Amino acid sequence: MKTIIEPFRIKVVEPIRITTLEERRRLLEAAGWNLFGLHSDDVIIDLLTDSGTSAMSAEQWSAVMRGDESYAGSPSFYRFESAVRELMPFRHVIPTHQGRAAEAILFSIVGGPGRIIPSNTHFDTTRGNIEATGAQAVDLVIPEAHDPDAQHPFKGNIDLGRLERLLAASGEQVPIVMLTVTNNAGGGQPVSLENIRATAAIARRHGKPLFIDGCRFAENAWFIRCREHGQAGRSVKDIVRDMFAVADGMTMSAKKDAFANIGGWLALNDDGLASAARNRLILTEGFPTYGGLAGRDLEAIAAGLHEIVDEQYLRYRVRTNEYIGEKLIALGVPIVRPVGGHAVFVDARRFLPHIPPLHYPGQSLAVALYELGGIRACEIGTVMFGLRPDGSEVAADMDLVRLAMPRRVYTQSHADYVVEVFEEVVRRRDELRGLRIVQQPAQLRHFTARFEPLP
Ligand SMILES: Cc1ncc(COP(=O)(O)O)c(C=O)c1O
Repeated sequence: MKTIIEPFRIKVVEPIRITTLEERRRLLEAAGWNLFGLHSDDVIIDLLTDSGTSAMSAEQWSAVMRGDESYAGSPSFYRFESAVRELMPFRHVIPTHQGRAAEAILFSIVGGPGRIIPSNTHFDTTRGNIEATGAQAVDLVIPEAHDPDAQHPFKGNIDLGRLERLLAASGEQVPIVMLTVTNNAGGGQPVSLENIRATAAIARRHGKPLFIDGCRFAENAWFIRCREHGQAGRSVKDIVRDMFAVADGMTMSAKKDAFANIGGWLALNDDGLASAARNRLILTEGFPTYGGLAGRDLEAIAAGLHEIVDEQYLRYRVRTNEYIGEKLIALGVPIVRPVGGHAVFVDARRFLPHIPPLHYPGQSLAVALYELGGIRACEIGTVMFGLRPDGSEVAADMDLVRLAMPRRVYTQSHADYVVEVFEEVVRRRDELRGLRIVQQPAQLRHFTARFEPLP
């Protein structure tokens, strides 16, 4: 059959409150035209993030009931540990309350002033946790990643030449090498198995451990299966094992490819590092058999890990975003291509060329999507990155709007609705105006800044 259906039936539903245009205009004004300020029950389709927003399965909810809340040695921990190790066979698996807690623990040990940590692209919490220790986070993604039209199948790959040169020149400052799969900050683009293996070989030659930020490991493995020479007939599970077999450790947010609403882990092979990490964990998160989680959360993650490598699910997952992407291209809406694993990224600067970057074309598009259709998306552009520490402003490299798809939450008719709202936005595109910021904090302004539409 041609149609790729949602490979699940719906057993529990959450009603969506359908708001009117007038209501949404009032709500936008009250929120200072910042979509983070909206109440989520005033949103029709919430594409703000794919993190922690997954629908859990019947198996996961059953597993929640089995959760054992013992302080130490809970069987829920051992089920969690064995589910992780079935895919990523690291010697030590250390649960944390979410991905950034794993990062904070890792970099409190390997970071510090004078240290350099290279990656394809560090996600912002990873960069933040590295920089908080005084170390430097360096992004070495291939040049194609910066061109929204470049049709490279693995735009998340690290530039091996630049990595080699960095390690040759400043190797003694580099404690670990990292790779983010898929590359969220670069548009959810995958990293090839060949690139993972080559990165591991270079790191090993220089005596450096390789750590993978594995948040979207299953989506990455699916892209490897679909796009990489020689991988077509293989099971996703085997590809996942191959991805991690050459690594020395990983950080993980279970809020992505484990279908959990909270959770994460740090996993690694080195006994000394693991012991230091557990000592830190006890200070900041909790005892090593629960990290910052309840036993029931560990059970939900364990069950989610069995489900996420399902090929029918991954086919539907990646296809949903491609489907929206294809329809947007047909409408003449510029997007980052190829479409990534968890989101469609719209190039708002090219879509709204009459709005200069410092009038925030991304925010203007995001506001229009909410006003006209109740869709909440996320500006990733000058609002997010344009404020410098001295208070001055620069245009970000790109002004994008991310439509991040929660896992197993929306159906094809929701996807069609998103496309219809874009049709309306396209009709009104010349009427869209920029915004100005009337109030903002000194850092991370995108969360709380208040705007006003320009006349
Ligand atoms: C690639 C990547 N790494 C790390 C994180 C941080 O995970 P968490 O939100 O669970 O702290 C995220 C979250 O979006 C991410 O996308």
